[in-house]
Amino acid sequence: MKFGIILGSTREGRVSPQVGAYIQSIAAQRPEHEFEIVDIKDFDLPFMGTAAPNTAWNDKIASLDGYIFIVQEYNHGFAASLKNAVDSAREEWFDKAAGIVSYGSGGGIRAAEQLRTVLAEQKVATVRTNPAFNLFTDFENFTDFQPGDHMSAGVNDMLDELTLWSKAFATIR
Ligand SMILES: Cc1cc2nc3c(=O)[nH]c(=O)nc-3n(C[C@H](O)[C@H](O)[C@H](O)COP(=O)(O)O)c2cc1C
Repeated sequence: MKFGIILGSTREGRVSPQVGAYIQSIAAQRPEHEFEIVDIKDFDLPFMGTAAPNTAWNDKIASLDGYIFIVQEYNHGFAASLKNAVDSAREEWFDKAAGIVSYGSGGGIRAAEQLRTVLAEQKVATVRTNPAFNLFTDFENFTDFQPGDHMSAGVNDMLDELTLWSKAFATIR
C-alpha cells in the first residue's frame, strides 16, 4: 500500500519537513509499504473556491491508500494551509484511514483533535495513537527536531494501526 506523509504547514522556516522525515525514516522499516512525503507547499493550492480545483492535488490524494498528517498547532487550532488542503478534495479522501502526528508547545493535541472531526466529514477514519512532540523537550531552540528515542514506540503503534485499518478499507473501496 501507498501512504502519504502530508506536511500541514507552508510557513517560511517551518519545522514540519524534519518531523515528516523522522516519521518516514521509521516507516521505512516496513518495506512492504511505500511512504512518501506529500508537501502541500509543492501544490500551490488556491484558496478553496477562488480558482479551478487543482487536479494534481486531487490525483495525489486519490492515488494514496492512507495518510499520515504532520500537524502543527497555531492559535489552538491546526494550520489554515492544512484545512484548505483537506477542503480542496472530496471523494478522493473517502473510505481511508489516517494517523496524526502533532507538535506544539503542548504537543499540538488541540490541533490534532480538531483535525479528527474535520477528517470524519471527509470519511477518513483516524487511528487512536497520536505521537505528540513538544516544542520544549523534543526540539533544540524550538527549531531543531531531536525527539527522544522513546518516541519511536508511539510512531510504530500508530503505523501498526494505520496499516491494519488501511488493509480493511481497501476491501470496501
Ligand atoms: C502565530 C503562531 C501561533 C502559535 N500558536 C500556538 C499554539 O496555540 N499552541 C502551540 O502549541 N504552539 C503554537 N505556536 C507554535 C508553533 O506550533 C510552532 O511555531 C511550530 O514550529 C509551527 O510549525 P511549523 O514550524 O511546521 O510551521 C504558534 C506559532 C505561531 C507562529
